[in-house]
Amino acid sequence: MQILKNIGYLATCKDEGEQGDIHYIKDAAIIWEGESIKWVGKQSVLPVKYSGEKVHDAQGRMVIPGLVDCHTHLAFGGWRPNEFEMRVRGESYLDIAKAGGGILSTVNATREATEEDLYNKASGFLEEIVKQGVTTVECKSGYGLSLSDELKILQVYQRLNEERSLHIISTFLGAHTIPPEYKGERESYIDLIIEEMIPAVAEKRLADFCDVFTEESAFNIEESRKILLAAKAAGLTPKLHADQLTSCGGAELAAEVEAASADHLEKISEQGITAMAKSGVVGVTLPLATLYTQEEPLNCRRLVEGGVEVAVATDFNPGSAPTYDLPLAMMLSCNQGRLTPAEVLKGATIYAAKAIKRDYKVGSIEEGKSADFAIIDAPDPNFWMYHYRGANCVASYVRGQKIT
Ligand code: NIG
Ligand code: FE
Repeated sequence: MQILKNIGYLATCKDEGEQGDIHYIKDAAIIWEGESIKWVGKQSVLPVKYSGEKVHDAQGRMVIPGLVDCHTHLAFGGWRPNEFEMRVRGESYLDIAKAGGGILSTVNATREATEEDLYNKASGFLEEIVKQGVTTVECKSGYGLSLSDELKILQVYQRLNEERSLHIISTFLGAHTIPPEYKGERESYIDLIIEEMIPAVAEKRLADFCDVFTEESAFNIEESRKILLAAKAAGLTPKLHADQLTSCGGAELAAEVEAASADHLEKISEQGITAMAKSGVVGVTLPLATLYTQEEPLNCRRLVEGGVEVAVATDFNPGSAPTYDLPLAMMLSCNQGRLTPAEVLKGATIYAAKAIKRDYKVGSIEEGKSADFAIIDAPDPNFWMYHYRGANCVASYVRGQKIT
């Protein structure tokens, strides 16, 4: 049995009430045994039976659930700093992609990388990511775009999940773009996804989710529907990159196929909001992607007021979001997305856990859940987001073990 005491402000982030209800407890303590939480409450009413053999001291600081980054493209070859400069000079993300840059240049670099190369690189990212208090990371494939290269990326995630205490959740994103060898033959590539890739990924249990980049310039609504329904039939839960650059009905499709989440959503329609609210699809805001592509940020308040639960994630990838700073994404979701600090905290914990269907296990500090939490050097969420600085996380615990 272990105890974390002297918690000045404990944000439990229970999945009850509104987006801003973080169910905090002042002067709290947490008891856990092995990997799971046994008791949470005010320290003054701690039951005597929980004497706690090993004592940890939060020294009056804030404690939050381990953060959940529910949208990353963690494993990739190379980087694209040249495109960053081009965008800053005024070239658009789409024009750069059309000129042979963008996702396809990362596909080339990822195909050249070995599984070992990708594993080492992604491992290095995770070392840094956990220091921010992140304890669960969703990771997408999508830079392989051939059966063997997609499997190579997903095997990296499988190994990371087995070898690290962190929770790693994998998503197959074969429908990220059409690879060069299928140029002009998109139907054949879609057939390859449906007939070979999805069955192999499902059979080897290499992913829980299947994502599609739904966009006129990537996979249109009909193509996305076909892929997501095939994935669903194979046991993979749908997810979508939806309405990022154009309003093309991605959010509506997410509702129709009962996706776990629809992500980006900068161009979401009113009908899209209504449809997502009705079918309980989590909306994932990715403000680092809009920041780096100089697009108009998503007004998350529209979604919250429309009844959609909004999660916040980084979209970490070498093109549109080359940083994995989740607290920065949270701060931007306040300043640009118009969410309160309490709302973004729920967005990066329990709602993010819902976006990856892990809310039964992570995302809140409650009895029975995984003992994942972070000690933050701030008195409360408001002060944390207001006086934003990179290094507020003092310690983090995953499955009951202190990892930073
Ligand atoms: O989520 N939207 C598509 N995919 C990624 C970008 C990938 C890239 O630029 O390499 C995204 O923003
Ligand atoms: Fe993405």
